[in-house]
Amino acid sequence: MSTQADARRITAPEIQARKGKDPIVSLTSYHAHTARLLDRHVDVILVGDSLGMVMHGLETTVPVTVEMMIVHGRAVVRGTKRALIVVDLPFGSYEASPTEAFHTAARVLKETGAGAVKLEGGRRMAETVRFLVDRGVPVMGHVGLTPQAINTLGSFKARGRDDAEASLILDDARAIAEAGAFSIVLEAIAEPLARRITEEVASPTIGIGGSPACDGQILVLEDMLGLGDRVPKFVKKYANLGPDIEKAVASYAEEVRARTFPAKEHTYAPRLVDKPAKAS
Ligand code: KIV
Repeated sequence: MSTQADARRITAPEIQARKGKDPIVSLTSYHAHTARLLDRHVDVILVGDSLGMVMHGLETTVPVTVEMMIVHGRAVVRGTKRALIVVDLPFGSYEASPTEAFHTAARVLKETGAGAVKLEGGRRMAETVRFLVDRGVPVMGHVGLTPQAINTLGSFKARGRDDAEASLILDDARAIAEAGAFSIVLEAIAEPLARRITEEVASPTIGIGGSPACDGQILVLEDMLGLGDRVPKFVKKYANLGPDIEKAVASYAEEVRARTFPAKEHTYAPRLVDKPAKAS
C-alpha cells in the first residue's frame, strides 16, 4: 500500500529506467538540513559511509557502523520528499554472506525509510546482490576504487589504468549489473574504462572520477562546496564555503568580545502590562 508522500519519491526502478537517457544527478548528504536543500535539484541522495571521514573525522570508512548509517539515513529521509535516498552498507555488515547482507539491508530500510542500499565490490558480491534484489532490496553497486577495501588496496589512487586491472573492473561491473543492481557507482577509474562499462552494462553508471560518458554523476557534497581540506582530482568546487564560514565565525567572536553582539534588534524588550485604573 502506498501513501501520497511515497508516490512523490523517485524510485530505484525509475533510476534504472534512465539508462542512456537524461543524466542522473546525485550528491551525498548526511543531515536533514542539507538534504532539504538538495531535494529539489537531484534525483538520488546517497547517505555515503564517507560520513565517517567527513562528519566524524575518521581516517577511513572502515570503522563506520550500521548505527551511524541509520542515524544519518533517518535524518536525510526526514529532510526530503522527492529524491531517492540510498544508504551505504558499512564495512563488515554485509560481506560474510548473502543472509547477513539481507539482515543488515532490511534493518537499514526499515529503520531509515530509505529506498535502496549501496554496497561495494564486484564479482565477489554478485551472489549477494542477486539475493537482496530477489528479496525486495534495491541495490546500487560500487566498483573501481572501493574505499572500504583500503587496507588491501593500500591507497586511494585511481584504478583501471592498465589493461589487466581494467579488464577485472569491467568484469566486476558486468557481474553486478547481471545480478540486478539498479545502478552502479564507478569511482576513480580511467576514462576509457568508464565509457566502455557504460556502453556494455545494462545498469546506469554513476561516475565519481569516472567519465562524462557515465549515465549520471555523484560528488560528496562537502567536497564540491569547498568544505574539505584535501579533495581528490575529480572534485570540482562549485563554492568555497570553508573560508566563508571561518570569516563569519571570526566576526561573531570579535563582536561578542566587543559586546556589539547582540544588538538591540536581537534583544527581547519587557512585555508592557497595562496597570489597573485606580478607584476614585
Ligand atoms: O561514501 C560515499 O560518499 C560514496 C560516494 C563517494 C560514491 O560511496
